[in-house]
Amino acid sequence: MSAGLDPRLLARAREVVADTTGFRDDAIAQDAVERVLRAELARGRVPTEVLSELQQLGSPLAYTLVRAVLVGETYFFRQPEHFRYITQEGIPSALRHGAMHLRGWSAGCATGEEAYSLAACLLACAPAGMPVEVVGTDLHEASLEAARRGTYGAWSRRESAPALHPVYELLNGRQVSILPEVRKVTRFAPANLLAPLPERFGLFDFILCRNVLTYFSPSARDAAIVHLARSLAPGGLLFLGTVEVDRAPPGLTREGPPELQAFRKPRPEERTFAQLPVAQPVATPRMTPTPRRLSAPPPALPAPPPSPPPSPARLHLQALERIEEGNVAGATAVLELLVKQAPDYLPGLLELALLRERAGARDAAFPLMRALRTRAGQLPPDALVDGPEALPARFYLASADAYLNLGALE
Ligand SMILES: C[S@@+](CC[C@H](N)C(=O)[O-])C[C@H]1O[C@@H](n2cnc3c(N)ncnc32)[C@H](O)[C@@H]1O
Repeated sequence: MSAGLDPRLLARAREVVADTTGFRDDAIAQDAVERVLRAELARGRVPTEVLSELQQLGSPLAYTLVRAVLVGETYFFRQPEHFRYITQEGIPSALRHGAMHLRGWSAGCATGEEAYSLAACLLACAPAGMPVEVVGTDLHEASLEAARRGTYGAWSRRESAPALHPVYELLNGRQVSILPEVRKVTRFAPANLLAPLPERFGLFDFILCRNVLTYFSPSARDAAIVHLARSLAPGGLLFLGTVEVDRAPPGLTREGPPELQAFRKPRPEERTFAQLPVAQPVATPRMTPTPRRLSAPPPALPAPPPSPPPSPARLHLQALERIEEGNVAGATAVLELLVKQAPDYLPGLLELALLRERAGARDAAFPLMRALRTRAGQLPPDALVDGPEALPARFYLASADAYLNLGALE
């Protein structure tokens, strides 16, 4: 199959695809990669020239390769059990907890059927007048253009997936068009799941990321899940594809039966002991009058030893607490202190870098990610690193690599 193709060219092309998408090597279609390379050579380019273009991650050829391997298979109300759970459990729970709006994210939305299905589901169940908003994101720009057009053929409507809520109307004999009210609350944007979704997108009550992570390497999948979880509102639900994870992602709890692959971000009042805020209440002065002493006062107690500075994990939790409250400036100040006091604490470097990235300060995020990569690279890959969640060093290395490669692509 690969006869005639320079093995270095093939290897580099696969590397470019893996670095950009997070795909495992065996999930990268060899025939698609070969097709792109052969087409390049057929245009009269020599292998060394193609190889040198592939050394730059953001080159046009790198994008052509990535587009060639992405799989965009999708249809309306795929995995209907997720929409049923949102209707029967998710939305009633959000309303009981005082939701003022319902927001959804279809992460890896392909041509948009999933995003529109989610929008139709939220619209059907939201009380009258409650704002509903759904964002669909994908790496594949042409898929997003198709999503924005919002017209679909028979392939997008499968017998296996029931039409649970009104989402489209018949356009002509074969095609359907998304209902105006569903279209109005749904928008699409390019985004790579290897990076955190920028802060301007806000937090979501429902995130669907299905049939995407199944192609990812374990470290890319872990990194993407951390980003997804960060975009969940407290009490929000993340739905993954059938076999995409075998345990609840860090910081989330499983909902419903295991095969549902639904995970919830606890609300502040539901946090477990380990997740409790670490800020200590200030000691209040005693208000009971001290009885008048008749005898000599007892000798003064020795002064208590000075309290040790808060541990990195404690400072980190304080910062997470502030992020959750929406106090970005406060969280940044705590994390800056943390990184200064404990430059080897990998979760602190990652947290501050992500916070800066989400605030649009990429120049400030890069040196932190570089420091993270250097320090994580010095540890054995499977060494568990202490933090709010104990994660292996390879997770931090992969997160830094994914971020730095991605930056080079843009
Ligand atoms: C098989 S489709 C799944 C569509 C939809 N979620 C569903 O379940 O029907 C996978 C989509 O994930 C997108 N994708 C793959 N890697 C991605 C990445 N790193 N960032 C964002 N999207 C990605 C692909 O472009 C493709 O459109």
